[in-house]
Amino acid sequence: MEATGKEEISVEDEAVDKNIFKDCSKIAFYRRQKQQLSRRSMYQASLDSATTGKDSTKFQIINETTKVPLVAEVYGIEGNIFRLKINEETPLKPRYEVPDVLTSKPSTVRLISCAGDADSLVLADGKGDLKCHITANPFKIDLVSEEEVVMSINSLGQLYFEHLQIPLKQRATKENKEDTSVDTSQEDQEDLGLWEEKFGKFVDVKVNGPASIGLDFSLHGFEHLYGIPQHAESHQLKNTSDGDAYRLYNLDVYGYKIHDKMGIYGSVPYLLAHKPGRTLGIFWLNASETLVEINTEPAVKYTLTQMGPAAAKQKVRCRTDVHWMSESGIIDVFLLTGPTPSDVFGQYSYLTGTQAMPPLFSLGYHQCRWNYEDEQDVKAVDAGFDEHDIPYDVMWLDIEHTEGKRYFTWDKKRFPNPRRMQELLRSKNRKLVVISDPHIKIDPDYSVYVKAKEQGFFVRNHEGGDFEGVCWPGLSSYLDFTNPKVREWYSGLFTFSAYQGSTDILYIWNDMNEPSVFRGPELTMQKNAIHHGNWEHRELHNIYGFYQQMATAEGLIQRSKGKERPFVLTRSFFAGSQKYGAVWTGDNTAEWSYLKISIPMLLTLSITGISFCGADVGGFIGNPEAELLVRWYQAGAYQPFFRGHATMNTKRREPWLFGEENTQLIREAIRQRYALLPYWYSLFYRAHVAAQPVMRPLWIEFPEELDTFGVEDEYMLGSALLVHPVTEPKASTVDVFLPGSNEVWYDSKTFALWEGARTVKFPVALDTDSAMGEFYLDDGHSFQYLHQKQFLHRKFSFLSGVLINSCADKRGHYPSKCVVEQIFVLGLKKQPSSVTTRSSDKWTLHFLMEVRYTGIQREQGHPAASHQLGFLQTMVKMSLWLLHIVPKCPPCIWRSSH
Ligand code: NOJ
Repeated sequence: MEATGKEEISVEDEAVDKNIFKDCSKIAFYRRQKQQLSRRSMYQASLDSATTGKDSTKFQIINETTKVPLVAEVYGIEGNIFRLKINEETPLKPRYEVPDVLTSKPSTVRLISCAGDADSLVLADGKGDLKCHITANPFKIDLVSEEEVVMSINSLGQLYFEHLQIPLKQRATKENKEDTSVDTSQEDQEDLGLWEEKFGKFVDVKVNGPASIGLDFSLHGFEHLYGIPQHAESHQLKNTSDGDAYRLYNLDVYGYKIHDKMGIYGSVPYLLAHKPGRTLGIFWLNASETLVEINTEPAVKYTLTQMGPAAAKQKVRCRTDVHWMSESGIIDVFLLTGPTPSDVFGQYSYLTGTQAMPPLFSLGYHQCRWNYEDEQDVKAVDAGFDEHDIPYDVMWLDIEHTEGKRYFTWDKKRFPNPRRMQELLRSKNRKLVVISDPHIKIDPDYSVYVKAKEQGFFVRNHEGGDFEGVCWPGLSSYLDFTNPKVREWYSGLFTFSAYQGSTDILYIWNDMNEPSVFRGPELTMQKNAIHHGNWEHRELHNIYGFYQQMATAEGLIQRSKGKERPFVLTRSFFAGSQKYGAVWTGDNTAEWSYLKISIPMLLTLSITGISFCGADVGGFIGNPEAELLVRWYQAGAYQPFFRGHATMNTKRREPWLFGEENTQLIREAIRQRYALLPYWYSLFYRAHVAAQPVMRPLWIEFPEELDTFGVEDEYMLGSALLVHPVTEPKASTVDVFLPGSNEVWYDSKTFALWEGARTVKFPVALDTDSAMGEFYLDDGHSFQYLHQKQFLHRKFSFLSGVLINSCADKRGHYPSKCVVEQIFVLGLKKQPSSVTTRSSDKWTLHFLMEVRYTGIQREQGHPAASHQLGFLQTMVKMSLWLLHIVPKCPPCIWRSSH
C-alpha cells in the first residue's frame, strides 16, 4: 500500500511515543545477559598454551558451564593502544567484524611476555610503562601503568558470549540434544527471545539464534566518564544503576525526550574516562544494538572494625564499572591509554581518522526550512539577507524540492530551472544544499529505482526479495550502502551529467539514514533484512548511515575530479563519520531546554571525534518566541555547524521577521560568527591534522581541575575562547566560571580583565607576559592544501614586548595578497610610547593598532552594556592569542612572507 502525503506527515507530527521504542526491559539480549550473569558462570584462560606472534598474543578461554572455547587475542598498537579481540574458536559460521571504520590496519607493536606461568601472563609493549597482566582463573586482565592498575577487564566476571548454535528446527530433526545451553521451556525461550523476539506487533525471527556478547571494564580512580553519543543527555555520563542503560541503536525519534538514555540518530561506541593525571578511552568496535551500563563506586574510607589496622589508614579509591553488551558480532575493543586528553584524541584518530577539513563556506551561516517552497521563495529569502545586511552562505532545500520525493530530481513546477536558481546564488558567492535520503521510491518510471533494482542494489528481506518499507515517497526500497559496488554507483549519481540540474555549488544533506522506516519496528528496518555478504541488518544497523555519507562525500569529490572538498551533512553516524563531513542533532524542539541540551550533546560529539556538529537553530519543532530565537542564534554562532531550520507548518522565522530590535541582535550574532571565521577555520585545521576537538569541554583544557569536570553550560572553542551561552529566559546576567589558577581572562567585547578561579599572584604586564597562537589559511575549498601544500600556517609568539609572526609549517606556501588588518593587544598596563614594526624589502606592514587598558570603561552605548538581550558571554584566555582579522569584503586580507 502506498502512503499518502498526509500519512507521512502525521507519523512525524506525534510527540515521542515511548511505546514505539524499547526500553531495556523489552530487549531480549539484555534480559538474557542479566539472568545469566546472576548465575555467575566463570571463564578460565589457558595461559600455558598462549602463543605470541608478530601481531598478537593468543590464548584460549573456556566457560566452565558451556565448555565452548573462545579465542582471545591481545594486540599492542602503535601509540599506547591495546586491542582485545574475543571470538569463538570455531563458530558455526563467521561472526560479523565491523569493516571500513579503521582507517587502515593499525600498526602493531610486538608484545613481549615479561613474566608468566599457567596462572598469569604479563605482556609489555617494550616501549612505554604499560603492561597487561592476564590472570587465568577466573579470567581477568589488568592494565598497569607505573605499577598502578588503571583498568581491569572482566574483574566483575561479566564476560558473556553466546556461541552460535544449530537452528532449533534443524536440531529437532537431527535430534541433536547435545547442546545444553538452550535447555529451556518454550515459555522461557519466548521470554529470552532466543530464536524469536516479539515487540508489539513485530516479530523478529533470528535465523542465527542468540549471539550476544558482553564484557565489563573497571576504571580505577575514575568517576568522570564521557562519550557514547548520541543521547539527549548531560555531557558527563550518569550512573545507570537505577534506570535504563545507555542505548546505542540508531533511531528516528521526532522531538526526542531530554535527559533520556534511549538511542537516537547515531552511535559512537566509544567513551573516555578522566581523572587528574590520566585520561583513558574504550572503543568498542561493534555495529549491532549496544547497551552500556555505568556504575560508580565512590571512594570509601574503611574503619578499624571493618578492615583491621593496616587497611584502616587506607582510603579505597573510587572506581567506575562500565558494562558493554551487544546483540551480536565479536568482542573487539581498543583501550586508549592516554595519558592526556590530547593523547587519547590522537589515539582515537589514529584508529578512525580525523575530522574532514571543511570547505570554508560551510563554517558560515546556513539557512534551511522544510521547505523553501519554490524558486521564487528561494530568491526572496536570499534577497532578504542582503536587504537586512545579514551575512549567510548557504541556502538549503528539503524533500519538497524533488519530484514526489524522488531524490536527484526537481519538482518541475516549483523549481523549473534549478540551474538559474544556482546561478543566482553563485553570483553572490553562495551555495545550495539539497537533501538525498537512502530510501528510493518504488516506481518503474524512476530511473534511480530502475537501475538499482536491475543491479540488485537494495537491501533484501529475509525471503530474498527487495526490502520494502514506507518513508516520505510512500513504498520504498533502501539502497544497500554496505556494498562497495552500491557505494560506487551511488557516488556516480552526483556527477553533473547524471544529476540533471546540479552545478558545482550544490552540496548534499543525507537524512533519514538510521534508516527510518515508518511502519517498521521502532520506526526502523527489520533486523532480519539482508545486506551484501548475506549479513543480517542486526549485525550492522548502527553503521548504515555512516556508509551513505561515505558514498555521498566520495561522489562529491569525484564530480570535481578530486579537486574540491565535499560538504555532506548526515543525521545518522558511527565511529569515524568525522571523515565524511558534518552531523546535526536531528529533530529538536523550540524550547529553552533543547537549547540548553544542545551544548552537552555537541560537546559529547566533539570529544568522540565529530567536531563538525550542530543543532537546528531555533528548534525544529514548534514556534520559538523571539527571545528564544535570538538566544539560539547567539548560541549557534558559537557552535561548529550553524544552521537555522524549522519543520513544516511552523511559522516562518527568517531572521528579520521578529521586529527591528531582534533583527539587529540576530544580525549581530551572525556577524560575530563571520568575524571569527579565521579562528574557526584554524581550529578546524587543528582538528583535521591533529585531532584536537574544535568545541571542548573545560576539563580538556583544565585536566587537573576537578571543578571543570562537570561543567556543561560553558565550553572552550580551541584553547583561547571560552563561551557561555544564555539558555534561560529573561536572563539579565549569567554566572561564568573562569577556570585556571594561572589564567587571566579578557571579556571579548569590553576587554575587561578577570583572573582565573584560583588566586594567582602573577603580574599581568606586557613586558613580562608571553602569549602564543596560530592561524591557518588556504583557498577555502579545494584539496590543494593537501596535494600541493598550498596553505599558510603561521604561529604568533609574544615575548618581552615582541610579537613574532613565523611559519608554523614550512611545507606550506600560499601566495596571497593578505594583510593583517588589526592586532588587539590585551592587558597593557600603560599605553606604549612607541611601536616598531620591522619591514622587509619586499613588503611593508601597516598596523592599525588598538591598545586597550585593564579596567577600561565600557564604551557608551555599547549594546551589550545597555540591552537586556545582550550577547552571550565570551572570554579570551590570556596565554593564547586570538588573532582578530576583520573580514572586509571577500577575499579576507592577510599578507605574509616566509
Ligand atoms: C527529518 C529531519 O530531521 C528534518 O530535519 C527534515 O526537515 C525532515 N526529515 C524532512 O526531510
